[in-house]
Parts: sequence; C-alpha cells; structure tokens
Amino acid sequence: MVKIAPSILSADFANLERDIKKVEKHADLLHIDVMDGHFVPNITFGPAAVAAIRRVTKLQLDVHLMIEQPEKYIDEFSAAGADSITIHVEAARNLYAAIKQVGSSGKKAAIAINPSTEISSAESIIENVDMILLMTVNPGFGGQKFIESVLPKIRELRSMIDSKNLNAEIQVDGGINKETAKLAVSAGADILVAGSYIYGSPNPAAAIKSLKK
Ligand code: DX5
Ligand code: ZN
Repeated sequence: MVKIAPSILSADFANLERDIKKVEKHADLLHIDVMDGHFVPNITFGPAAVAAIRRVTKLQLDVHLMIEQPEKYIDEFSAAGADSITIHVEAARNLYAAIKQVGSSGKKAAIAINPSTEISSAESIIENVDMILLMTVNPGFGGQKFIESVLPKIRELRSMIDSKNLNAEIQVDGGINKETAKLAVSAGADILVAGSYIYGSPNPAAAIKSLKK
C-alpha cells in the first residue's frame, strides 16, 4: 500500500494544529518543508516550528531540508523531534558524513534529488539511506506542475533498489494529484508527498484516501 505524506507547506500557517488534525488519522508521515531562501528562493520553518509541531501530533515528522549547509542544522532538527531528515545531494558538501550524522542522531536518513540531477549521483549512497526523495517539481514552492520527465528516473531508481535487494523507500514530491499519483506509483514510488492537492481540497482526509486508491 502506498504511503501518503501531506505537506504542511499548503496548510494554513496560522492554524497549523487544526490543519494537522485534519490529516492525522489518514496520513502515514507529516512532511515539513524547511527552506532557507538560499538553496531555494523561499523561507519556511525552522527547528522551533518543528518542536511546536512535535508537541501537537504523534505523526512521524518527515523533515525535508531545502537549505544550504544542511550539516549545520541536522542536530537541531533532530532534537526538535524530527523522525526522518532528508538532505539534498546538491546541498551537502559531504553527503556521506551528513547521512551518517542523521543516523547517529537516531533518526531515519534520506537524500533528495532535484529534477535535473541524475540518479547516478546517489548510487553510491543508497545502501546507507532509509528513503530517497525524487523531486518532481523544482523545489521551493507548492502548487507546481508535475514534471513527467522524472518518471524514467523513478523507474531507474526502483530497479537499482530492487537489484541490490535494499529496503530504501522511494518518495516522490511535487505536483502529486489523483492522476500523477498513478504515474508515480506505477513507476515505483512508495511514498507520495502532496501539499496543494490535499490542503486545497475541502476535505483533506478524503483527498488522502483518493490518493491511496
Ligand atoms: C516543494 C516541496 C513540496 C511541496 C509540494 O519544494 O518540497 O513538498 O509542498 O507541494 P505540491 O504537492 O503542492 O506540489
Ligand atoms: Zn518537500
């Protein structure tokens, strides 16, 4: 069964607790997009926001770091209550060390790959991660259109993981809706991140169920 990770980037920031409760029963993970205005042209949440969210939900907090120098902030996000921390391969100076740092803090480690970055850049590290997030939009904003040319990369990664007999899960992030969810899952995705499709719906819980179908 595919897992769904609602992205609170599309929630109402003045009513985060209320909006988290709307998805809590049906979501598998809660996706938190951390942006620094440097790696991407937008600014969102810091560790204090993650700690506040930690106090109001038991959902697994999936922290997607779209920041420069991610190594500097891993421990803070970990202490704030993240359950998994995702590092962009384009942002880390020493990806292997960053992934190890996440693991040593007792959290699940993941890498993220932008649409224009080749899967081969991650091949040597996929044995050391719990998840690999493939961006299906350029990172920075919710509500963008799914980039279909990423589909072959999902298939490539799926066969790489299967041929090495690994358990790493493939997460797909950006432009997910009922139609693109089908494409991503048949290409091999295990976890769908969705922001505007879920929070743009009058009934976010029903939107999650429709993605699971
Ligand atoms: C984009 C973020 C996504 C974003 C997805 O940079 O990483 O998690 O919330 O939003 P939608 O589902 O609206 O494309
Ligand atoms: Zn994200």
